[in-house]
Amino acid sequence: MNSLIFGRPPLVFDPPTDAVQVSPRVPGAAVLEDLVPESVDQAVVLAPAGAIERQYTLALVLRALKPGGRLDVMAPKTKGGARLAKELKGFGVDCEVVSKAHHKRCLATRPQTLSGIETGIAAGALRQDPESGIWTQPGLFAWDRVDPGTALLIRHLEGLKGRGADFGCGYGALGRVVLAQEAVTELTLIDLDRRAVEAARRNLDDPRARFLWADVRTLTDLADLDFVVANPPFHDGGAEDRALGQAFIDRAAKSLRTGGTLWMVANRHLPYETTLNAAFKTVRPVVEAEGYKIIEAKK
Ligand SMILES: C[S@@+](CC[C@H](N)C(=O)[O-])C[C@H]1O[C@@H](n2cnc3c(N)ncnc32)[C@H](O)[C@@H]1O
Repeated sequence: MNSLIFGRPPLVFDPPTDAVQVSPRVPGAAVLEDLVPESVDQAVVLAPAGAIERQYTLALVLRALKPGGRLDVMAPKTKGGARLAKELKGFGVDCEVVSKAHHKRCLATRPQTLSGIETGIAAGALRQDPESGIWTQPGLFAWDRVDPGTALLIRHLEGLKGRGADFGCGYGALGRVVLAQEAVTELTLIDLDRRAVEAARRNLDDPRARFLWADVRTLTDLADLDFVVANPPFHDGGAEDRALGQAFIDRAAKSLRTGGTLWMVANRHLPYETTLNAAFKTVRPVVEAEGYKIIEAKK
């Protein structure tokens, strides 16, 4: 491979035309973890915001680069950019730092010898929690806990049966509870993030479960479902994006049969009611607590 690109770096106006996308958040992308060490000439990276995930990504990218290969990595200053140069130094890489209004960008050449690469990879890898047995990975949503909004939805979910889907399944916290219901005959778990899908697959060893690495907004092959459950995302690329949750609601309505139900949780301030009322016949606020609201909507 000549060039790889991780994510959609904002400062690269002219990315290498042959660059292979390797971000786990781009469905269909190549798998960064599987790249042959020292096989890539050039890498352009929008570094993830989470410190462990960022260092894991940098370690994998550096491992894939040939000695002498070019690295161009950037991040918003407040989302890890300010620490990039130091983190690269920790891997034995000196870089030239370019500061833009909101971003830091580091340009470097991969030296012959790296340090701390395997430690960085191990710290961010998919792992099984020894106490709970749950498979998870730093960088996934609420990767080391059950999100309080998800927990609230779990406490109020009722009457699920038949064929359903979990939109934005994460590592499968919600899916595990759904599949505990015997009347559920099939559950399709969908996430934009390959690592979430992989963790969910390991956490839900159940013949009724099927898994899709896909963008819910562009799904077309789900129809006539009895139910959809979701804790919809409302951030895209680090910024709040209410349209994302609204798109999840629209797609749920399109995927359900008449009479089918959407169960969702949202932060109380998020304005989903207009979208819900337009797409569903009845919308029932089930509970508001701890800053969240649970909604049951029937098509
Ligand atoms: C708020 S988290 C909920 C995760 C899990 N269901 C839970 O309750 O813990 C939202 C999830 O949606 C995923 N996601 C974000 N945008 C998506 C999209 N366009 N299509 C599918 N999944 C998406 C994220 O990767 C994340 O796992």
